[in-house]
Amino acid sequence: MDTRSVPEQTRACAASALPASAGVGFKNVHFSDIEASAPDVGFFEVHAENYMGAGGPPHAQLMQLRRDYPLSIHGVGLSIGGAGRLDRDHLRRVKSVVDRYAPAAFSEHLAWSTQGVSFLNDLLPLPYNAATLAHVVAHMDEIQEALGRPILLENPATYLRFQSSDYSEIEFLREVVRRTGCRLLLDVTNAFVSATNLGFSADDYIDAFPMLDVKEIHLAGYAEDVDEVGDPLLIDAHCAPVQEGVWRLYDRALARRGPVATLIEWDNDIPPWPLLSEQATRAERFLKKDRLPLKTTPDRVRS
Ligand SMILES: [Fe+2]
Repeated sequence: MDTRSVPEQTRACAASALPASAGVGFKNVHFSDIEASAPDVGFFEVHAENYMGAGGPPHAQLMQLRRDYPLSIHGVGLSIGGAGRLDRDHLRRVKSVVDRYAPAAFSEHLAWSTQGVSFLNDLLPLPYNAATLAHVVAHMDEIQEALGRPILLENPATYLRFQSSDYSEIEFLREVVRRTGCRLLLDVTNAFVSATNLGFSADDYIDAFPMLDVKEIHLAGYAEDVDEVGDPLLIDAHCAPVQEGVWRLYDRALARRGPVATLIEWDNDIPPWPLLSEQATRAERFLKKDRLPLKTTPDRVRS
């Protein structure tokens, strides 16, 4: 399939209406701080899977936030990279959350997390070859058709390289965009983690990334470990402040992309609101920085 067969409705909708400013992942423990201080953050992001119940306090809080701030919804359970067919019950639940909140963007991962009826509590990488490309494209088509909008696809954090990969990750992402009309979520921390774990240049990855298709950036703190031979192993744990190497890479990405919606992701060991808010303020400073364009491989021109 090429982009001429992307459904008209998918091509016509914008993939994101998020502002080019810094947002944070919403946690209900921060609701009273947010309510009391009306912070100047660009948007909030939530996981779709946390709002699949019919009602109650989670929805009451999110409805209130939705009135005051742009909202991004992030899925973690569609298993787009899985070899089997999509879980259509889960897709229906995602659709009901998206229909309920009409978010400014919906995003998911280039990863898999289900095997048959088993749900693995992890986002696992996939080999990049013709067979997996066909699965991913078919799944993206089905998701975008169901949601009636283009979605953002996120680059994964990886810990291993597959011998059966024929495409680089960036070539694979470009091909998914070309065939499905989706856009991209660049997780800068995932790029940093993968580069460290697999021994490639994070700068080269950022310089080659199709920035014109990037509609959102994620930043998070990673955890540090070592592998069985004592080499550094980084885990995309969303458990700490964003590390300096990631801020530097973010700056490099913005030099090519220009300002774009940027989320601080912090899902474990959740900090007090002032620390989370301070991370968003720091991202905002990068977004507002005057900068000269970085000379890198030219991106495609997209109308
Ligand atoms: Fe992310």
